Amino acid sequence: MDKNKKYSEINKEAWEYATTLHQKARQEKGIKLEYEMEKVFPELVLTNLDNKVNFSKKKILQICCNNGLELIALKKNGANLCVGVDISSLSIEEARINTSEAIEEVKFYNCDIYDLQSVEFEGMFDIVLFTTGSLRWLHDLDLLFQKVFHWLAEDGQLVIYDMHPITEIINDDRQLQKSQFEIIRPYFFSGAQYSFNSLDYIGHTNDHGKQNCWFMHKTSDIVSAIIENNFSIKMFKELPNDIAGIYNKLDEHQGMVPLSYLLIGQK
Ligand SMILES: C[S@@+](CC[C@H](N)C(=O)[O-])C[C@H]1O[C@@H](n2cnc3c(N)ncnc32)[C@H](O)[C@@H]1O
Repeated sequence: MDKNKKYSEINKEAWEYATTLHQKARQEKGIKLEYEMEKVFPELVLTNLDNKVNFSKKKILQICCNNGLELIALKKNGANLCVGVDISSLSIEEARINTSEAIEEVKFYNCDIYDLQSVEFEGMFDIVLFTTGSLRWLHDLDLLFQKVFHWLAEDGQLVIYDMHPITEIINDDRQLQKSQFEIIRPYFFSGAQYSFNSLDYIGHTNDHGKQNCWFMHKTSDIVSAIIENNFSIKMFKELPNDIAGIYNKLDEHQGMVPLSYLLIGQK
């Protein structure tokens, strides 16, 4: 099997499994859809990503959309067509259930983003959006941003609101016995990283069920791949916000380490 296909196969299995854990946790904790949406509203919609992105009336494509809550929240707050793509069939199934029939113009596709041909969405979107924990799963940033460029309409925006690459090298709350400032791996390394770390970010269990495969993209790798694919970067802001909710231990040291970033690229 082509090695890139292998990464996607591994991650598909890992995310199908993680989705079952998330569904179980939501059920056990009685987490309601409305509650989760209320959590994503302030971040994504009300503050319009630091007031720099206007989602209103925009056609939005979200890559790695998981169960679609963010897109649905955007749609409910005035976006135009919203399309989500994710490799996990269970997440997309859930996204379709979460989208009540009353919400038109929200569509979800289950596929590996690298299998989606550039021409399929040629020039369709005003915004292509990546949020928390998306880029680390995608092995080829160059090919990714090449596709994104084609999917965007003239003057369209690439919006990334993701975890900062620095978070890959420090401890999160799952390793309580270690100092949060211990460097657990080098920043300068590349290639596929195979791991059994739990992906259960809803139940926060340590269930190591399936292997996953992620990629250490340095800040410079991300920025370079965007520039090389003809975007102009309009904004790049490093932020102290723990958008993944797994760096609570750092709360008392807020501001010492960047935990997320917002990048806006213009076609
Ligand atoms: C951390 S989750 C993203 C969560 C999302 N930001 C949210 O808040 O709902 C990462 C997602 O990336 C998806 N994913 C991983 N590799 C992918 C690929 N090659 N193509 C499409 N989706 C992929 C996974 O299935 C998973 O749903």
